[in-house]
Amino acid sequence: MTLSAGRGGGALVAVGTGIRIVGQLTTEAIAWMRRADRLLYVVNDAVAEATIRGLNPAAESLFGLYAEGSPRHRTYLAMVGRILDSVRAGGVTCAVTYGHPGVFAWPIHEAIRLARAEGYPATMLPAVSAEDCLFADLGVDPARHGCQSYEATDFLLHRRSVDVASDVILWQVGAVGDPNYHAGDYDLSLLPLLSERLARIYPEGHLGYVYEAAVHPGADPYISPVPLGLLHQARLSSSSTLYIPAARAPEVDAVVRDRLEALASGPFREPPPAAGPREPSDDAPSATPGGRAPDRSSRQL
Ligand SMILES: C[S@@+](CC[C@H](N)C(=O)[O-])C[C@H]1O[C@@H](n2cnc3c(N)ncnc32)[C@H](O)[C@@H]1O
Repeated sequence: MTLSAGRGGGALVAVGTGIRIVGQLTTEAIAWMRRADRLLYVVNDAVAEATIRGLNPAAESLFGLYAEGSPRHRTYLAMVGRILDSVRAGGVTCAVTYGHPGVFAWPIHEAIRLARAEGYPATMLPAVSAEDCLFADLGVDPARHGCQSYEATDFLLHRRSVDVASDVILWQVGAVGDPNYHAGDYDLSLLPLLSERLARIYPEGHLGYVYEAAVHPGADPYISPVPLGLLHQARLSSSSTLYIPAARAPEVDAVVRDRLEALASGPFREPPPAAGPREPSDDAPSATPGGRAPDRSSRQL
């Protein structure tokens, strides 16, 4: 573990707890959390909070910077300011978020960028994100069809294009169209626009899956299939992520296929389904423990 002190002795390291801190917190992250002179964290899960405070009694939550109904971006700027103030004060600052500290976590990227611009060493450790949990729980391998990943409001606002022969993951679908923070329900008045948009892109009846990884060990993930055109009727929370399986097989470039066949010792074959994930027509995750209520203990960063 090396991070030499920069100007005035300050340094920044950003770590993530994983989605499920029990089991997903790495030994490297633990070492930094223990070593830090100041630890600033954003988690909203009692087990994660107790674990962090146990590792570093000086740990300070930034969660209180959220204010009901106020723009999340304003809170993010305040978080960046708090992290930078701590770095400038000297010693090692450890910034801790749930999941991966650099996945859908603008304040951490911004804090690292600004710290470096001011001459302080700053680094980020990788961690287990919601997408990593999704791949495991839904049995999805992004190598099979490819995988496009979008923030839901960005997808809608910028009319992002979709390759329907690829899987799609929409993040923050339970907060689509609402730039403000809410401890409870988000204003989903723009959600029907997302349903309409997806219904225009995908064949009628094509299913998406509302997914919430379990935050606590032993709990099941929440996996609920929904026809994309009816997404606005689905039960969503701020922890929901939408997974949309590929809707058709990809086109084949005959020239490339012929070259691959020439290089292969026999006819070129894509991996059989048994050796990897399912065919597009069989893409539906089979496990749908819909009887379980979603675990709502993790929130927006
Ligand atoms: C601000 S992002 C934070 C992502 C986090 N840094 C990570 O590495 O996964 C919040 C979004 O992450 C996704 N997310 C967070 N917790 C989740 C969970 N338990 N299961 C599925 N998706 C989750 C949702 O799309 C949610 O709206």
